[in-house]
Amino acid sequence: MKIAVVGTGYVGLVTGTCFAEIGVDVVCVDIDAEKIARIERGDIPIYEPGLDEMVIRNMKAGRLRFATDLSACLDGVEILFSAVGTPPDEDGSADLRYVLDVAHSVGRYMTDYLVVVTKSTVPVGTARKVKAAIQSELDKRGEKIDFDVASNPEFLKEGNAIADFMRPDRVVVGVESKRAEALMQKLYKPFMINKYRIIITDIPSAEMIKYAANAMLATRISFMNEIALLCDEVGADVGAVRKGIGADDRIG
Ligand SMILES: NC(=O)c1ccc[n+]([C@@H]2O[C@H](COP(=O)([O-])OP(=O)(O)OC[C@H]3O[C@@H](n4cnc5c(N)ncnc54)[C@H](O)[C@@H]3O)[C@@H](O)[C@H]2O)c1
Repeated sequence: MKIAVVGTGYVGLVTGTCFAEIGVDVVCVDIDAEKIARIERGDIPIYEPGLDEMVIRNMKAGRLRFATDLSACLDGVEILFSAVGTPPDEDGSADLRYVLDVAHSVGRYMTDYLVVVTKSTVPVGTARKVKAAIQSELDKRGEKIDFDVASNPEFLKEGNAIADFMRPDRVVVGVESKRAEALMQKLYKPFMINKYRIIITDIPSAEMIKYAANAMLATRISFMNEIALLCDEVGADVGAVRKGIGADDRIG
């Protein structure tokens, strides 16, 4: 199977490399030519234990390559991941500029059926915008090419990203067609053999799962910070309190 990963930052580089590691033919694309040149020299721009050897091994095996020009990379690609940044805007909302730039490029250059999967962290409804952007470019070209959009949010933690990707708590995949589901199942099959949970759902639910998980984690951190302040006030040991409340299955 051949896939493309657009955006070779933390998430894109780990995603592309880990898929190559399990035998997928991967091309990673980024508009930052300097970054791509560095990676091709084996100089990995992020600190992730074990990633550099994995990149070099898969490049040498011919399963992992890097590029800056998306238009030259789509031949034979069945699934395209978009893993570009979604920095917060001035009002705190996610800036979808890069996600939509990728969608427009895909619409401009695609020649065959593709599943366009958003891996970036995006608000509910983004897949609909991605779909509209791709379709608008196809309409401009006067082309009728089938495609599907999908959502596959990423839960990796920096510093532990390879283990998080290769042995995930769960993989969440939001789809809206059987064809896209079958391709995503095929791609993630090695993970299923290892009994990691794959949750296949509709696209808005997949998008919501990522935001809800982030909100839950942030809430727990804020909650424990408040408890720690209270512990200081009353002379309690926050470590002991954490263990004590975490021992409850409903909490820990
Ligand atoms: N880093 C994490 O721990 C983490 C974990 C889970 C989810 N996420 C989410 O994943 C997404 C990516 O995060 P990241 O940390 O990898 O970002 P990053 O900033 O490290 O990488 C983004 C890359 O996209 C490239 N890019 C931008 N526009 C492009 C375009 N049109 N075509 C090709 N490449 C383009 C940039 O040059 C950059 O290399 C974000 O939505 C983030 O919230 C990040």
